This record gives sequence, structure tokens and C-alpha cells, in this order.
Amino acid sequence: MGRKDWLAMRSSSWNGWRRCLVFFLLVLFILLNLFYVLELHQNPAAQPPPKKMNTKFDHLVLGPAAGQGLPNRLQCQGTKALNKTHTRSSSNAGESVSFVTVFTVYNTSLADSRLSNFVTVGNASYTKMERSMAVLNVFVDFIKVTMPRSNVVILTDPASDLSLFGNSVTVYPIQGDYSRDKLMLQRIRSYITFLETRLEELAQNPGHINHYIFTDSDIAVVDDLGHLFNDHPNFHLALTFRNNKEQPLNSGFIAVRGTTDAILRAKIFLQEVLKVYSSKFMSASRMLGDQLALAWAIKSHPGFDLRRFTKAQAFLENIGGASVLFLPCATYNWTPPEGAGQFHGMPLDVKVVHFKGSRKRLMLESWNFLSSSSDIFDMLCLVLLSGRTKYDF
Ligand SMILES: *[C@@H]1O[C@H](CO)[C@@H](O)[C@H](O)[C@H]1NC(C)=O
Ligand SMILES: *[C@@H]1O[C@H](CO)[C@@H](O)[C@H](O)[C@H]1NC(C)=O
Ligand SMILES: *[C@@H]1O[C@H](CO)[C@@H](O)[C@H](O)[C@H]1NC(C)=O
Repeated sequence: MGRKDWLAMRSSSWNGWRRCLVFFLLVLFILLNLFYVLELHQNPAAQPPPKKMNTKFDHLVLGPAAGQGLPNRLQCQGTKALNKTHTRSSSNAGESVSFVTVFTVYNTSLADSRLSNFVTVGNASYTKMERSMAVLNVFVDFIKVTMPRSNVVILTDPASDLSLFGNSVTVYPIQGDYSRDKLMLQRIRSYITFLETRLEELAQNPGHINHYIFTDSDIAVVDDLGHLFNDHPNFHLALTFRNNKEQPLNSGFIAVRGTTDAILRAKIFLQEVLKVYSSKFMSASRMLGDQLALAWAIKSHPGFDLRRFTKAQAFLENIGGASVLFLPCATYNWTPPEGAGQFHGMPLDVKVVHFKGSRKRLMLESWNFLSSSSDIFDMLCLVLLSGRTKYDF
């Protein structure tokens, strides 16, 4: 046998082996998938047990409601709420509240054309780009229900086309760098630019007071927030805090009183945060920089007592000339804990639910549920029951 023949034979038996191996792997892959699907079908409504924490669900998954039997926590029987105790306080006549959010559209049309990228919520199907628009829409829808006199301002990249909203929404283009890794930095810049325009406007028309609440767009406002500005008459800006040493402040909710003095001080405060961000936290992951900068600006304030973050109770503190109201996340920025963290249920006085991370589907599902049940407390039970689940977007 010549060397060439030997090589050819070796190569053909090698090819045979390879085909065998590929076939084997294919069968294994199909079997594994089959088992996986069977298991899901046998156990459709089961809560995700700890060992399956990495699974992300594409449909509503309900577990037991946390906090049952605890005082001041929402009590539920299935998705029927036993407590329905919101007190609808109206805000001062002549004063209004606007919600301000930064939103930009990332062009993902190529990746979107694949069928696997579609998700379905209720009777609607969304591509990746459409689902972030759907979250924004639902954000606006919740405000229309709970604070019908309020309007929403969307600060956006001039290149984004957001013309589809009705007259309760004002789209306000601001030049800047909206790339994904700069978005949180740009967001603070946009807030500052927006506050500057309000100052100019107030100088021309000082009569009307309009308060501002800057938020992420993945939140549901589930109660009237107008009372905040009456109940706490002395703050310039308000932030939400939680008992977390590394990240005690969440940047997803910043309220600013609509007076010239307050807007000016809030602007100076945010400029300070921006400075800290640019000088210290540019290398932080793109979602965290602003929170770390915010925490730094507060913690580095001489005399600030960090122990106040351990108790979920609002307090006022003067930070660099601004009177800052610290509000507990438990009420104003409530997020169901994910994974194995402790979960003590939902406070009865929750006003804002934040659908952080892999909870965006739950936000759309919740709105769907509310649209058919018309009961916001029952919907809160749904959110509570589903609080541990990780979803696919
Ligand atoms: C919430 O509802 C439960 C069950 O009806 C009741 O026992 C509890 O007192 C209520 N809590 C409040 C604060 O109303
Ligand atoms: C997305 O990109 C495609 C192709 O580059 C373009 O035709 C389309 O107009 C873009 N869409 C948006 C919303 O920018
Ligand atoms: C989808 O559901 C919404 C709300 O439940 C309803 O208004 C709409 O008509 C439905 N659309 C279709 C195509 O069934």
C-alpha cells in the first residue's frame, strides 16, 4: 500500500468516525431538548425551584405569594388582593407632575428578522426593538391610569423616531452620545439639559408649578405620586434608597420640585454627580456608573450617617446646598427580589414597581392583566406571585 492510499484510507475512516460522532451529538441534543420540553409540560404552573434559576420563562410563572401573614404586606388569595387600601390624595390645585424618561431606539433590524427573536405577550408579538417600545408604551399607559392629569416627557436621541405617541407624551430630542455604553452618562446630561430649559421657561412664565419625576421607563406607577410634594414640602430633590452597602441608591427615580430654586439646586447636584461619574466610574459596567457616582456624591458628604439607609423610612438631608429627600425603595421603587434573596412580600403602600433586569415581560403581562381585570391590587398580587421568576426579556 502506497503512502497516498494509506492516507486516503485513514482519511476516509476518519470521515466515517466524524460522521458517527456528529450523528451521535445530534441525537443527544434532540433527546435533551425533548426531555426539557416534556418536563416543562408536565409541570406547567410550577414555581421555578432554586436549581432552575437560570431558566428564563416566556410565559407567566406564578409561585407562592411572599409576606403572607405579615402586617403591612399585601395579602393575596391567588391573584385576588385582600387589601385594597390606597388613599387617593389629590395634589395641590394648579400644580402638576410630569414624568421624564430617557429613551432611545437601537437599530436591530437585521438581527430582528429571525423568527426566534419574536416574543409574544397576550395577543401581541414583538421583535427586540418593538419590545422596548412596548415597555415604554406600558410605562405611559400606567401613568394614564394612576395619574391621568400627568404628562410624560421622553428625552431622546434626535435620530430616534418616536412620533407614534399621542398628546399625553412630549418627545424632546437632545443631542448627545446615546451609544449603549454611554447611555447612563448621557442620561444625566440629558436631565441637566432638560432642567436648564425648565429654568428658562420658568423665568418667562413663573406662575405655573410643574414638578418633575425622572424615571427609568421599565417602571409602573401604581399610585398617585402628587402627594409627595405636599407631604414633604421642604425638599428640592428626592432620591430612593435601600439597605445595600455597595449600592444604597437607585438612579431609576429622581423627583425634582418645580420651583426655580429647587430646579437650580437639583441641576447643580446632578452636575456634581456627572463630575464624579466622569472622573471615577467611567470604567464601571454601563448600567452601574450613575448609581455608584450618586452613592459617592452622597457618602462623601461630611457628616452623612449611612446607618439611615438601614431603616425604610423617609428622611431629609442637606447635601451641598440641596435639600435632598431620601425615600425608601420599598415604597417608591419596589423591585421583587430575584433568585434566592430574602423576600418579605410587597409593602401595602407600594407606589412604584420597578421591573428591573429580566422582569420586563412581567411588566407587559401585568398591564395585560390590568387591562382585563381593572383592579390594580389584584395586579399587584400577580406581580407578587411572580416576583421570583426570571423572564426572557
Ligand atoms: C389586609 O388583609 C388581611 C386579610 O383580609 C387583614 O387581616 C389585614 O388586617 C389587612 N391589613 C390591613 C393593614 O388592612
Ligand atoms: C435601521 O437600519 C436600516 C438599515 O441600515 C434602515 O433602513 C432603517 O431605516 C433603520 N431604522 C431606524 C429606526 O433607524
Ligand atoms: C388584543 O388584545 C387587546 C387587549 O386585550 C385588544 O384590545 C385587541 O383588540 C386584541 N387584538 C387582537 C388582534 O385580537
